[in-house]
Amino acid sequence: MKRLRKNTKQTDAPAAALVAGKSTIKGLREQAVACKACDLWKTATQTVFGEGNSKATIMLVGEQPGDQEDRLGKPFVGPAGKLLDEALAEAGIDRTQVYVTNVVKHFKWTPPQRGKRRIHKKPRSSEIQACRPWLATELSIVRPRILVCLGATAARSLLGKEFSITRQHGKVVESELSPFTIATVHPSSILRAPDAESRRQQMRAFVEDLKQVVVLATKTRAK
Ligand code: URA
Repeated sequence: MKRLRKNTKQTDAPAAALVAGKSTIKGLREQAVACKACDLWKTATQTVFGEGNSKATIMLVGEQPGDQEDRLGKPFVGPAGKLLDEALAEAGIDRTQVYVTNVVKHFKWTPPQRGKRRIHKKPRSSEIQACRPWLATELSIVRPRILVCLGATAARSLLGKEFSITRQHGKVVESELSPFTIATVHPSSILRAPDAESRRQQMRAFVEDLKQVVVLATKTRAK
């Protein structure tokens, strides 16, 4: 895994300089491999860039890659990704047709006190800011009709610090980022539910929010 970093020319250039002139997701992804805009690259295995349909109607934005995403180099492929897949399928959204990304492209973690599993750490606002040009450019290339923020980190970084998932989930919010913007819970919050019944309830609410996305997608297609 270290090999990837040794063979890759890293650069201290801000992400804004790296994205300059990139007009395809493929080009952006290639540039992002070398991103050193914050320190997270030092402890991450690799950049985990967004992927999916680059002409998608729906774009989903999470927080940052987790342990498995960091190892595999793909967003939402670990436990939270499996739950997301389940919820998308239940809501009638085909994951192959959407674009999935994160506000931060490197895994931030701390060593576990016991065992081997690296512990996810929330990104700081400076790290979110450093990564912002990637997400801004992904948005400008994909130009989704519907932007879906998964969890508070994505929602607050895209819709403002005051955004409350508890109060505003599933509602369309005014934003310049896309014609329709909506936020819902992060799938990993459902994985942390204290018991099976609350997990079922949270999953149901998550699927309901995603069904709102389907309604919006149907409306935009009808236009
Ligand atoms: N959590 C996220 O926010 N993104 C991923 O890609 C995986 C887990």
